[in-house]
Order: sequence, then structure tokens, then C-alpha cells
Amino acid sequence: MKKFQIINGPNLNLLGKREPAVYGNTSFEAYLEVLRNRYPSCEIDCYQSNVEGELIDKIHETGFSYDGIILNAGAYTHTSVALHDAIKAVESPVVEVHISNVHTREEFRRHSMISAACKGVIAGFGLKSYELALVALIN
Ligand code: DQA
Repeated sequence: MKKFQIINGPNLNLLGKREPAVYGNTSFEAYLEVLRNRYPSCEIDCYQSNVEGELIDKIHETGFSYDGIILNAGAYTHTSVALHDAIKAVESPVVEVHISNVHTREEFRRHSMISAACKGVIAGFGLKSYELALVALIN
């Protein structure tokens, strides 16, 4: 069975409640159940933290044994050299995902510190962005 790790960064624990016009009304827990049911032949683990170092620890912990990591680093996307280095340090492919289309929003969201270290980037498809990343990693 292929194993994938979803890692969600800061403020993503509030999905469903946080700025619903941008991020939707669905909690991540509810979406994860749908995703797991849709891909029963995959193990999909999920981790969320608001702490940059904990996201790095999770990348280290899973990045040598999982078949891929789906990373929504939230606002750390735009600031974190340390996350860039962590992604480069591991063997598993990492796909950067964003729920919103960051290129249509504020200027500061247009630059990602982590894209260059990732296998690919998916943004703007709502929670479906995670599924698209999963399909890319499965294939
Ligand atoms: C986000 C986009 C980021 O700019 C923002 O800081 C987030 C969520 C997204 O999924 O659209 O927290 O990563």
C-alpha cells in the first residue's frame, strides 16, 4: 500500500471557519474522510501544526519512507527558507498545494520560498488541490 503524508501549516486547523469566502465551508477532517474513501488503496496520513519547526520535523520524519508528501505550508510558504531546506533534505517527492489561487491575491502571496524545492505546485482548486496532488504522486 502506498503511503502519503499531508502536512498542513499555520491556520489550516481553522478550515471551514476561516475566511469561508476564500477557503470554503468544509473542515479538513470532513474532506480527509472523503479523500480516504475515494482512494482506499492508499494510506493517507495527515498532520497539522501552527509551528514552523514542527512542520520541519514532520518532513524529516516522513520524508525517507513515504511515497510522497502533500504540503500546504500556509503563510510559511512565503517566508520559510528552513522549509525549503527541509524539503531538499528528504527523498520523498513533495507537492506544494494551496487551496486558493495565490497569484490572484495580495502581492506578497505570489512568491513561494518552497516551490523550487518541490516536485510540483497545485493552487487554486479549493480542497480539490489536495486530491490533484495525490493523483500526481500516485502516478
Ligand atoms: C494558502 C495560501 C497562503 O497564502 C495562506 O497564507 C494560507 C493558505 C492556501 O491554501 O490557499 O494560509 O496556503
